[in-house]
Amino acid sequence: MSEKPIILAELEIAQQKALALLAEIQDEEPLQAWKREYLGKSSTVMSAFSSIGQQSKEFRPLVGQVANQVKQALEAALEERARIVTEAALTRKITDERVDVTLPGRQPITGGLHPQTLVLRRIFSIFAEMGFQVYRSRDVESDEHNFELLNIPAHHPARDMWDTFHIDQPGVVLRTHTSPGQIRVMREQAPNPIRAILPGMCYRYEQISSRSEIQFNQVEVLAVGKNITFGDMKGTLNGFVRRLFNADVRTRLRPSYFPFTEPSAEMDVECFVCAGKGCSVCKGSGWLEIMGCGIVHPAVLKNGGYDPEVYSGFAAGMGPERISMLLHKIEDIRYFWGNDARFLEQF
Ligand code: DAH
Repeated sequence: MSEKPIILAELEIAQQKALALLAEIQDEEPLQAWKREYLGKSSTVMSAFSSIGQQSKEFRPLVGQVANQVKQALEAALEERARIVTEAALTRKITDERVDVTLPGRQPITGGLHPQTLVLRRIFSIFAEMGFQVYRSRDVESDEHNFELLNIPAHHPARDMWDTFHIDQPGVVLRTHTSPGQIRVMREQAPNPIRAILPGMCYRYEQISSRSEIQFNQVEVLAVGKNITFGDMKGTLNGFVRRLFNADVRTRLRPSYFPFTEPSAEMDVECFVCAGKGCSVCKGSGWLEIMGCGIVHPAVLKNGGYDPEVYSGFAAGMGPERISMLLHKIEDIRYFWGNDARFLEQF
């Protein structure tokens, strides 16, 4: 009888070693390496199979049988280990990626309303309480509406106050003020009474500074009817200012000049920062200028289709950017349209 083939001992050692190592494996990658090492082409088990032909006849069946047992044992152990590794990986994933429902939520980034939208809405609601409707008028105007029909003929020196942008088409301008809307409302409504406010962007060829921009909003106020007086104007504008700033702010009217009103005035409010004592906001005067106003000029009423012998009216024009600047102590008008989120987020 020949000696037991050495491969049988080798198989036993390989099996022990392989099983011991397998028991330590925690991850998919070393598992694959293990498989290559102990069940791959050059593993002891596989070489045992290919060695069968060289074994003595007597031991061939035994070598084959043992190699098979070892192979099956290793495959079974691998399968079991693979199940454990996959399960462990899943458990780890679940704990690592667990949603902690007790964490505070993340604030979504939301936009806000522009400070000008906010102040315009305040102005609209105050005038709405007094029965005024918002009337939209056009940004691109005819020279005729912007100037002529408002009693500002060509070459009138008052035009210097409203230097503007012209477009290619002669006689068409970007409106310099919302006043041309007065003519449009009147022509639409005559001879009915009017209580309207006309908001919108205006454009001027200006030296840009902390007080002036080439683009800004205005809100025009217009009331037309029978027996409308300077007193009505004063009462309405005072009512507006008190709702906007505070209930007992003082106001004053200073004589002024506008070609489309007669008489014309400028309305000031008592500086609410220093209560009229004089400070940097009111430049020491104790007063803040907030709008131009006056009794609609008979020529303008006529241009709007109202008989100035029968009808009268008052008008006013204010700059909402300036009003925002006063309300929030903003020192530079250019912030409004500069698109800087750090400024805009504050409202
Ligand atoms: N349109 C004038 C301007 O842009 C403002 C203004 C003043 C409007 C007096 C009026 C008014 O309606 O009566 O400076």
